[in-house]
Amino acid sequence: MSKRVAVAAANWKMNKTCAEAATYMADLKALLPTVEGTAEVVIFAPFTALATVAAGGSSAGVGGQDVFWMAAGAYTGEISLGMLQDVGCTHVLVGHSERRRRFGKPEPELAGDLGCVFGDNDATVNKKLTAVVAAGLVGCLCVGETLAERQAGQTDRTIEAQLRAGLAGLDAAAVANTLIAYEPVWAIGTGEVCQEDEAERVCAMVRGVVAALYDQATADTVRVLYGGSMSGENVDGLLCQPNIDGGLVGGASLTVAKFEPIIRRCAKG
Ligand code: 13P
Repeated sequence: MSKRVAVAAANWKMNKTCAEAATYMADLKALLPTVEGTAEVVIFAPFTALATVAAGGSSAGVGGQDVFWMAAGAYTGEISLGMLQDVGCTHVLVGHSERRRRFGKPEPELAGDLGCVFGDNDATVNKKLTAVVAAGLVGCLCVGETLAERQAGQTDRTIEAQLRAGLAGLDAAAVANTLIAYEPVWAIGTGEVCQEDEAERVCAMVRGVVAALYDQATADTVRVLYGGSMSGENVDGLLCQPNIDGGLVGGASLTVAKFEPIIRRCAKG
């Protein structure tokens, strides 16, 4: 089996104005031709910056951070796939833990007594991913356990359930073309990276679930990324693992200088 092409994906989250995005994309455009090897670079940007990212003239893919599955209508504040395609999107992030998370007591400034603001769940994630695939874009399905789930020994069960529900109804070809990001919730934005052997174990488990749901060829083709405090310092240990095919990177993707070592390591294969 030939080695899968690695993916260096930036998730800017709620960061960057259009002017900041334009500067970043100019730096990225200058960098990418100097990178040895082959990697796919994708920038998941806020909706307002997507057109700027697409106009940047680099070879990077352009990704929305979320989408609503309906084509049009009375859905105030939502974004359709047609709108994402209109501004040049090639990829869409689906089911990021920050959109599944139930904000509550530890983060009262976000939700107060509401308990939940964004509220994605396995069912909505599946509807979104199905719509992304139908539109011909590449989805990036995020899965991962919370600290409480890990401490309760529920890591594998949680992730398998997220995969089964998230991929439900998709055929093998669609899944082979989808990115799956394993992002342990407790490692996101904390500086606490998952140990590389444990990240490898879970990513191999993800591939095993795909093999069980579909077939070995699909499992061998799908790219499984790791996300959660990935940086230039820890990328090598993670990318050395046979089942980790790249990174979904938050904080360390916010400047091209910090993202560069991750891109270079992904391109090394
Ligand atoms: P950090 O790299 O900032 O931990 O964020 C990871 C993430 O959530 C990417 O989607």
